[in-house]
Amino acid sequence: MSSTQTLNQSNPPVRTVASTQSEMTEIILPNDTNILGSLLGGRLMHFIDLTGAMAAYRHSRTHVVTAAMDHIDFIRPVHLGDLLTLKSSVNRAFSTSMEVGVKVWAENTRTAAVAHVASAYLVFVAIDQQGRRQQVPQLLPETPNELRRYEDALRRREHREAESARRKEAHIVTTAQEVAADIKP
Ligand SMILES: CC(C)(COP(=O)(O)OP(=O)(O)OC[C@H]1O[C@@H](n2cnc3c(N)ncnc32)[C@H](O)[C@@H]1OP(=O)(O)O)[C@@H](O)C(=O)NCCC(=O)NCCS
Repeated sequence: MSSTQTLNQSNPPVRTVASTQSEMTEIILPNDTNILGSLLGGRLMHFIDLTGAMAAYRHSRTHVVTAAMDHIDFIRPVHLGDLLTLKSSVNRAFSTSMEVGVKVWAENTRTAAVAHVASAYLVFVAIDQQGRRQQVPQLLPETPNELRRYEDALRRREHREAESARRKEAHIVTTAQEVAADIKP
């Protein structure tokens, strides 16, 4: 991909976390569930991806692609007929990427009981119509919770980069070993 990076002209240099907050509610229907009537994990990941993208769109005001969904906790099952509410906001903006946090709750429509069922972190990258990466506005954390998430997001990015470097190194070593094994004396 081209390394061209321009700041979208309609973007201010800084946006608040509040301006990125997004929410989606779904009713869980038979098509969303397994044969035991529990929400499929892949379907939940789809809802998480969509809600995360909403926050990234609101921050970047450009097209975005999902670069990573690197941490997801499925805390408890969601059942047929439950109301699923997903909330997202940008935790931190970097150069062309944004880390978004998504939290998910399920509501039993008969008892009104609400439970936290999942949380995830995703990274979105801003691109233009031609797929060129776009610089995004910086994010301004305003509350103690927003500041905590902002700082944690940097730690997660460092961890992601270290893990990616480790995987690349392991791949190089494995490939070199495979090549050596193929060269028979
Ligand atoms: C994500 C993508 C745009 C990155 O493009 P790239 O040319 O490899 O970009 P770079 O490696 O130079 O990184 C660009 C930015 O993305 C971030 N990034 C790239 N890969 C990442 C990953 N796996 N996890 C987290 N961040 C990532 C980089 O940290 C960098 O962020 P910064 O500009 O804020 O510092 C590209 O890999 C892509 O198009 N992937 C497919 C996306 C897609 O189709 N998603 C839907 C899948 S179902």
